[in-house]
Amino acid sequence: MTIKIGIIGSGFIGGIHAGILARDERVRVSTVHDLVEDRAQQLARAHDAAVAATPDEVIARSDAVFITTPNTRHVPLALAAIDAGKHVFCEKPLATTIDDAGVVYQKTQSSNAVFQVGHNRRFAPVYATLKRLLNETHEPHSAHVKMNRGELLKPEWTGDPKVTGGFLYETPIHMFDMMRFLFGEIETLHAIGSSHQYQEIDDFSVLLKFKNGMHATLATAADASWLFPFERVEVFCHHATLVTREMETLVWSSSLEGHFSSESMQQTPREEKWGYVQEDRAFVDSIVNGTPPLVTAFDGLMSVEIANAVYESIRSGGPVQIRS
Ligand SMILES: NC(=O)c1ccc[n+]([C@@H]2O[C@H](COP(=O)([O-])OP(=O)(O)OC[C@H]3O[C@@H](n4cnc5c(N)ncnc54)[C@H](O)[C@@H]3O)[C@@H](O)[C@H]2O)c1
Repeated sequence: MTIKIGIIGSGFIGGIHAGILARDERVRVSTVHDLVEDRAQQLARAHDAAVAATPDEVIARSDAVFITTPNTRHVPLALAAIDAGKHVFCEKPLATTIDDAGVVYQKTQSSNAVFQVGHNRRFAPVYATLKRLLNETHEPHSAHVKMNRGELLKPEWTGDPKVTGGFLYETPIHMFDMMRFLFGEIETLHAIGSSHQYQEIDDFSVLLKFKNGMHATLATAADASWLFPFERVEVFCHHATLVTREMETLVWSSSLEGHFSSESMQQTPREEKWGYVQEDRAFVDSIVNGTPPLVTAFDGLMSVEIANAVYESIRSGGPVQIRS
């Protein structure tokens, strides 16, 4: 039976998911909605889908729902879709407060449907390979993680903390999830932040200690320009370093003399390079096979917990323990 997919939020990422899903013969993009009707009409035309007048109508007419609205609009839609017993793919962030993230997480625990959060980078070949190397051959001691943005202007809502929940929930949330994926649970963190270009804290330095004894630094600024690479993970191991450059390349040292190995993903189509194709396939696999999602509501909750802890540390001026 073909799985009917509904999309709520017909903007940039809603369009990316729709395009990928259209190439999966197990599903059909059947109903779409957007607050701006023109956008829904345009997406519907591209996929021969129906336009629904309300999110509730999308939920009622679908087996699985993609929530691709801006950040602070995810929670009510996620709760409605879970209540209706539908499978849900919720874009990151799961929520923009711990309380909300906890409510969604609790609801998923009493649902038999799949609930996956859009932390796409876990599926990006650069990060999947880095994780494999850390598991198999390189034990990490410490790391430096960077995730900058050029601006908070496009789309327009990215500069409005009432819609993003704050910069940390918009962009660095990817790296909060990535650090857990690569290095395990965080025990404590200590952050300093400042405000420059925008009406919110837009530049952060964070020191993190992990439960396994590892430590890391994270730097993230919202107005750093799009100077390449704005995203980079450097992992320091016993006589070895592993470095990512965006989702383009992974380089790792292979001898004490400075020799190195590398893998390039530059020829990989962008939607695969960024993990979107793989995350959507994994979501449909979970529905079809009745298997747990690869990025759970708990993962979404923990990323929100870390973002909240960074803000809390800046407010208090001291270290903050992560609950898990
Ligand atoms: N995983 C990723 O790499 C990635 C990339 C981009 C965006 N995102 C996330 O996806 C979400 C959407 O981002 P985008 O870049 O597509 O934004 P966008 O502005 O391009 O699209 C959002 C759409 O949602 C619509 N919308 C707003 N509120 C709505 C509501 N209550 N009901 C229905 N429609 C509504 C808007 O009209 C707009 O068309 C955000 O949460 C963002 O953080 C994730």
